[in-house]
Amino acid sequence: MKVLLTNIEELLQTRDDPPAQIRGMAMAQLPSLRNAWLLFENDKIAAYGTMNSATPSNVDKTHDCSGRIVLPSWCDSHTHLVYAGNREQEFIDRINGLSYQEIAQKGGGILNSAKKLQATSEADLYEQSARRLEEVMQLGTGAIEIKSGYGLTTEAEVKMLKVAKKLEQAYPIQVRTSFLGAHAVPQEFKNNKQAYLDLIINEMLPIISTEGLAHYIDVFCEEGYFSVDDTHQLLAAAAQYGLVPKIHVNQFNAIGGVAAGVEHGALSVDHLEVLTNADLEALQNSNTMPVALPGCSFFLGIPYTPGRRIIDAGLPLALASDYNPGSSPSGNMNFVLAAACIKMQLTPEEAINAATINGAYAMGLSDSHGSITPGKKANVIVTKEIPSYGYLPYAFGNNLIDKVFLDGEQI
Ligand code: NIG
Ligand code: FE
Repeated sequence: MKVLLTNIEELLQTRDDPPAQIRGMAMAQLPSLRNAWLLFENDKIAAYGTMNSATPSNVDKTHDCSGRIVLPSWCDSHTHLVYAGNREQEFIDRINGLSYQEIAQKGGGILNSAKKLQATSEADLYEQSARRLEEVMQLGTGAIEIKSGYGLTTEAEVKMLKVAKKLEQAYPIQVRTSFLGAHAVPQEFKNNKQAYLDLIINEMLPIISTEGLAHYIDVFCEEGYFSVDDTHQLLAAAAQYGLVPKIHVNQFNAIGGVAAGVEHGALSVDHLEVLTNADLEALQNSNTMPVALPGCSFFLGIPYTPGRRIIDAGLPLALASDYNPGSSPSGNMNFVLAAACIKMQLTPEEAINAATINGAYAMGLSDSHGSITPGKKANVIVTKEIPSYGYLPYAFGNNLIDKVFLDGEQI
């Protein structure tokens, strides 16, 4: 099946030899082609060129993209999309003055979601999660990382990861999974956290690894959750099963999680709302991608990750949604892009690089996703008629997407 997009006003992120990640000043460059065509062959990008040159013939279907911008689909490298129910009540409690941490201390927060998820059947969990996945695909997400971490028992953690796996099989979107058993300490282990760490290490990790349910290991490294020592322990144990870290660090406090992640060869360190110079130094000369989650900052009213400082230090940056019921109940990457420009002073070029190539890197999909490159997945967003790509973050909150193609087919 050959599908041709013609008369594209501007085709963004065209790279014949794409780098795995884009760092520092290079993030300001967004290669593009005006008045372009783009050819898909089955699920892959086959070629692209300008309308002045010969356009491919013998195609099965042609889409006229006059006045429209075409770009790679979003690569959302950090989500908790599989969850049960919602936490709307906690949202109201926060409006009425309680803090996120106070709610968690009262047994709400992650433990509240765990209680709901444990009581939800796998079939029901699948249905709830599938609705969310369909919604974010329509919003332009073409690759997504999904974490466990609302199970907190072996059975419920496995249930979450199985749901994520089934979603991957049922939808034309690439799913990468992370095992986040160390998301919160369950009530029954409150006075014996080590026993919970032992359960993760001796029971959960072996099962999840034998069943091939996770690509990555995640830990919520934060005061009141898991310490840097706990993190070392968990990452070392996970390494025995070949699980690479992608970890939650520096959301509320900088306690050394960044350096711990880098030491264990983390693919990414995520959140970073609080960032010290020592954290920045730890990231220099590493292959670890810093990931910002501005949807979480917006929803919780906490500081935004200092993305400008990260990029100006010559580091790369990725953007992700953190879609979850407690701190970011939206998986809309278009909003994430806007928030990054409006609140983190990223330029549209930097934000698009962060949400495509660098997002793909942060979930191990550099070879197949994140740029318009022959041989990569035919995953693109076709915008409505807009004056320029800067309009995407500028006109925040508007849905400017006309069509989404995943695996070469319009969804
Ligand atoms: O990335 N910070 C840890 N985990 C999630 C939120 C968890 C929750 O509140 O349910 C996050 O923000
Ligand atoms: Fe998260």
